[in-house]
Amino acid sequence: MRVLVIGANGQIGNQAVDKLKEQGHDPVAMIRKEDQQGQFKDNGIETILADLEKDFSHAFENVDAVVFSAGSGGSTGPEKTIVIDQEGAIEAVDHAKEAGIKHFTIVSSMGTDNPKDADSKIKHYMHAKRRADEYLKASGLDYTIIRPGMLQNEAGTGKVSLTEDKPEFGNVPREDVASVLAHVIDTNQPQNKVYNLIEGNTPIEDTLK
Ligand SMILES: NC(=O)c1ccc[n+]([C@@H]2O[C@H](COP(=O)([O-])OP(=O)(O)OC[C@H]3O[C@@H](n4cnc5c(N)ncnc54)[C@H](OP(=O)(O)O)[C@@H]3O)[C@@H](O)[C@H]2O)c1
Repeated sequence: MRVLVIGANGQIGNQAVDKLKEQGHDPVAMIRKEDQQGQFKDNGIETILADLEKDFSHAFENVDAVVFSAGSGGSTGPEKTIVIDQEGAIEAVDHAKEAGIKHFTIVSSMGTDNPKDADSKIKHYMHAKRRADEYLKASGLDYTIIRPGMLQNEAGTGKVSLTEDKPEFGNVPREDVASVLAHVIDTNQPQNKVYNLIEGNTPIEDTLK
């Protein structure tokens, strides 16, 4: 499957691209700077230059599925969170629809189901993520929404807790989030569901059954 990965230069996106490639898919890494191309080209991965703050509709040509893992990051202010995490995601959903792409997977965040309860420093972030999730849900696209807990940089364990229930807060390695994203694409059975994701005991290949 040809999969557009938005945020491919990011810590999760980068690993998701590699895992998709390993599983026999054709990831297309959406990046915004030419000097980010090298690492992907060295691994035989196609790149497309596009920026969520400009017209990025060209990135959706000949694509079967989209994985959105972009984010403005913790060091930017609330305005960028709205521009990237909310409006960027919403525009990506629109482009996917226009291009006839069936399945859209987004990396959201745990806590998004109840933004009002969030700490005041991240309330805007939770609202932005929620707006994007709600827009995707109402879009008519097949969707998978992954809401990870606190991201960690240690190596993945290959085992997670992926549930639709009321979320239990916890940590999760970025590598395991990337593996879950690749597994979502690999199973190719979008069920229009929202999943909470933290570390756990279930092998990733046994999830989504
Ligand atoms: N931190 C947490 O504990 C936590 C928990 C749950 C969910 N999340 C969410 O998980 C997602 C992925 O996390 P991560 O750690 O992989 O993030 P990351 O390393 O910061 O990656 C985010 C990516 O988004 C890209 N991006 C930003 N602005 C862009 C633009 N205008 N156009 C195109 N791409 C743009 C960045 O591009 P550049 O590389 O060019 O800067 C970067 O590659 C984020 O949405 C984050 O909000 C985080």
